[in-house]
Amino acid sequence: MSDHPANPKAPIYSALVDDVVEFHDKAIPSSPVGETVSKQTPEGADVLPLRCIDHVRFFVGNARQSAYFYRNAFGFDVIAYTGLETKTRHEAGYVLRQGDITFVLASPLSPQHPDSYRIIQHGDGVQDIALEVEDVTAAYRIVTERGAVGVTPPTLLEDEHGVYEYAVIRAYGDTTHSFINRDRYRGAFAPGYKPLDADRYSPRTFRPVGLRAIDHIVGNVEEGKMNEWVRFYEHVLGFSQLVSFDDKDISTEYSALMSKVVQGGGGRIKFPINEPAKSRRRSQIEEYLNFYQGAGVQHIALATDNIVETVRALRHNDVSFLRVPKAYYDMLPDRIGVIDEDLAELADLGILVDRDDEGYMLQIFTKPVEDRPTLFFEIIERHGSKSFGKGNFKALFEAIEREQARRGTL
Ligand code: FE2
Repeated sequence: MSDHPANPKAPIYSALVDDVVEFHDKAIPSSPVGETVSKQTPEGADVLPLRCIDHVRFFVGNARQSAYFYRNAFGFDVIAYTGLETKTRHEAGYVLRQGDITFVLASPLSPQHPDSYRIIQHGDGVQDIALEVEDVTAAYRIVTERGAVGVTPPTLLEDEHGVYEYAVIRAYGDTTHSFINRDRYRGAFAPGYKPLDADRYSPRTFRPVGLRAIDHIVGNVEEGKMNEWVRFYEHVLGFSQLVSFDDKDISTEYSALMSKVVQGGGGRIKFPINEPAKSRRRSQIEEYLNFYQGAGVQHIALATDNIVETVRALRHNDVSFLRVPKAYYDMLPDRIGVIDEDLAELADLGILVDRDDEGYMLQIFTKPVEDRPTLFFEIIERHGSKSFGKGNFKALFEAIEREQARRGTL
């Protein structure tokens, strides 16, 4: 999509009741919904069917160089392009794909671009999480009736490859959600985008690293706003609450945060929402909010079926990951029991492991991928476990604090 300006002056979603939602240690049913909503939407997903995350759009200072980074460091194929050569005058955009993951990297071509303020305000970051729906017009009508703030009403784009429909609403901070439908579109990505020039990248330098799908996308919101946004996803988008963590689960000497996970689209779309909790010094969430200048996407978790091979390839490409102390691996056999992977190899690569009643999971986190300590990525491989790595929080946050100390932001 080449034109969905988020209006920074528009009011944020505010039609929310400030009811108290208690924190629980394990999965709890979604919090009580308002009377009108509960009558109309006993099953939110039936009323607003969300298929999946279609793509994530990043707004960046130099999309050409970002595309090179995501291709050569993270193993994405660059499949489509929009810009001056395709008669798009206001921005350049690159569509990247690996497995079922689609990223769009866009940069303004002049200060007149309606989103150009984002570069100064936020630095590079996620602008839009696009959700595929059956009926864009119905989705937009339903969510705006329930209180979502519209950015772009249902819009039809057409070229020789067919019809592409989208609409945009506001989410947390300057982040937006698009609803898109491409059932009647057969082009490379969307009207305006063309397959990349064959001579732009050499096939010899393209090496995918095994990333398969988006597992979850985490938003950081301001202190006291987590429940408001959880209710937005529940009441407006028909999500349900999956799990929550409070500051007793997620705290170290200095940093603390609270987190709740909402899911939609039959469990295919998972959005944890974090807020900073009071702590002695600046938590990682506060650091993010300060540098991003508000709420926004903190990390995107990308699933792989072979985390050892994926992380080995990413490390080979100089992707930087957080490291936990060696002692973490000494305690691991007692904590997680028998797993298929070789512990020495996991320790060598810095991959973390956690277990719950349903199985185990392996995960690792990159350092921020831009100069501001904002967006980073998680690589995750699940073996039955649907958790988010609660058992790793302490070791992980201490690793983040060591990085914060190096940045002078602790
Ligand atoms: Fe995560």
